[in-house]
Amino acid sequence: MSAALALSERTRGRTAPNPNVGCVLVKESRVVGRGWTQPGGRPHAEAMALSQAGEKSRGATCYVTLEPCAHASPRGPACADLLIAAGVARVVIALGDPDPRTNGQGVARLRTAGIHVVEGGAEAPARAAMAGFLTRRAKGRPFVTLKLATSLDGRIALASGESRWITGLEARAHAHLERARHEAILVGRRTAEIDRPKLDVRLPGLESRSPRRLILSSAGDLSRPSDIADLEGVDHLLVEGGAETAAAFLCEGLVDRLLLYRAPILIGAGKAALGDLGLADLASAHGRWRLTDTRMLGSDRLEVYASS
Ligand SMILES: NC(=O)c1ccc[n+]([C@@H]2O[C@H](COP(=O)([O-])OP(=O)(O)OC[C@H]3O[C@@H](n4cnc5c(N)ncnc54)[C@H](OP(=O)(O)O)[C@@H]3O)[C@@H](O)[C@H]2O)c1
Repeated sequence: MSAALALSERTRGRTAPNPNVGCVLVKESRVVGRGWTQPGGRPHAEAMALSQAGEKSRGATCYVTLEPCAHASPRGPACADLLIAAGVARVVIALGDPDPRTNGQGVARLRTAGIHVVEGGAEAPARAAMAGFLTRRAKGRPFVTLKLATSLDGRIALASGESRWITGLEARAHAHLERARHEAILVGRRTAEIDRPKLDVRLPGLESRSPRRLILSSAGDLSRPSDIADLEGVDHLLVEGGAETAAAFLCEGLVDRLLLYRAPILIGAGKAALGDLGLADLASAHGRWRLTDTRMLGSDRLEVYASS
């Protein structure tokens, strides 16, 4: 299942409105097929793995990160039917599909056909891998990651507005990889004007994965953070500041994940990472963020937090 989850990451940010699913077919202790949802949402992971395995699918075990779909669409057949037709013996599923067209019906159809189905076991990592799809289903908006690059004293720019560069090459390359995993990227109007950021992916081989660019401005197309719910085809949104924009998303409870790149420099008087959050007391600031990952990127430290 770990291998299937890793495969699902390949098209994170490229499959909306479909989930980025991963699938591995194993027969006699050998991997005979691997699949992941293709850009645009089709073919599905199971279809790709089955076509790779061909006749070797018969009697194989299928590890899949989301319940196989039970609904046929004009773009392809139901994966539950494909698995049955291929003669798969066993299907291990990390997470049920909340889509009402499947939600339990994929499992039921497999079991009716005599396939041994095992559910659960890797639910938490599967939820993390498909957070965009699941957030869109549960909350009707994209999964939002807020990225901040700060000095040790929590500044994002000098008082003059200069902010290039706070972090080093490795941290910036990591931030570009994050961009490649999002359908859209957003900055505030002042950041757009002051920094004129390209907001693209400048990593060799990933240039084509630059996300759609958006600017938050009361006078623009996106005039309120809550408007992100209406962004069609966007299940992952990366917010890259500045301070007022970041605070606006936080105040509305719209940040699911925080990426904090901290450089070993001190700025002193400069621009604080965040505008006013409207906190009534310190107690209400506690318990909101849970550290999920931390690592060094060159001389900078990355900390990843999930909203609790
Ligand atoms: N180190 C880093 O990670 C980093 C990242 C980004 C930026 N920066 C720095 O941050 C500075 C800019 O930050 P900033 O705080 O001054 O400005 P900002 O957040 O980039 O932009 C502020 C503008 O965004 C719009 N906006 C913000 N909240 C809104 C809301 N709730 N509804 C509608 N529109 C909203 C408004 O545009 P309108 O006035 O048009 O309505 C507002 O004037 C620059 O110096 C930049 O270099 C640093």
